[in-house]
Amino acid sequence: MEGMSSCLPIFSLPRTDVLMDTTPHLIHGAGLGLRRPLLNQLLATPPPAVNFYEIAPENWIGMGGKSGKALRAMTERFDFICHGLSLSIGSTDALDEQLVHDIKRFMADHQIKLYSEHLSYCSLGGHLYDLMPIPFTTEAVSHVATRIKRVQDILEQKIAIENVSYYAAPGQEMTEIDFFNAVVAEADCKVLLDVNNIYVNSVNHGYDAETFLKAMPAQRIAYAHIAGHYKEADDFLVDTHGADIIDPVWQLLDQAYQLYGVFPTLLERDFNIPAIPELLKEVQTIKMLQNAHGYSA
Ligand SMILES: [Fe+2]
Repeated sequence: MEGMSSCLPIFSLPRTDVLMDTTPHLIHGAGLGLRRPLLNQLLATPPPAVNFYEIAPENWIGMGGKSGKALRAMTERFDFICHGLSLSIGSTDALDEQLVHDIKRFMADHQIKLYSEHLSYCSLGGHLYDLMPIPFTTEAVSHVATRIKRVQDILEQKIAIENVSYYAAPGQEMTEIDFFNAVVAEADCKVLLDVNNIYVNSVNHGYDAETFLKAMPAQRIAYAHIAGHYKEADDFLVDTHGADIIDPVWQLLDQAYQLYGVFPTLLERDFNIPAIPELLKEVQTIKMLQNAHGYSA
């Protein structure tokens, strides 16, 4: 990764007062979001650097044919996480319990160990085709937490909730971090920490990324996402997953490992996807940071 020498970590022990719990992670090491165009190549030559993969269940449930077989061959060999796109956990529409049951069956069928979703919504009397922020209000905390608990009851396991990027905060009564922490505490769920989203939001909403990171509920972290974004202006970034990861985002991941110890971390790339060897350089950088903090997978 260009410029990475400037953010190589200085090895130090993580803070003992905020360490994650000792429950083993369900997955480990460095991961890669599995997008359909990558499937055949990854199956033909699985890169040793990738310890686990993530898929959106909505894109794969019920899929047969060659792609279905290729996915089966991958899930038989590697650890996978389901990362939901359309559960719309924050919506006031009725929870799509059928979708949750379908996901449960899909996970059991492929031996997938963990399900994560965004702390957002994408439906309001119909599909919105985008992830919208939930108003940061006390009323929304209990509404969303109740829905997360219902999903956990159906799946019979805890899910991980992701901190999302957002561009407006209508009806805001509390800060983003207070809202996030209140939801995951009330739902008693795990956390998917998205490092790039913290960075993007810190620029767009003028807060300090490190302060936000330090306030995350470390003991709930199941794994992390890291990704690139698009710089529209100095004070406006767009979370595209379509560019290389910039140094300040790598530095934030390094800081997270320093604070909390190493946790599984996955590269998300959805647009401008480079050739696999190029993509794997960023997976290798995740590994390098993990190794620098005393972890090897
Ligand atoms: Fe993410």
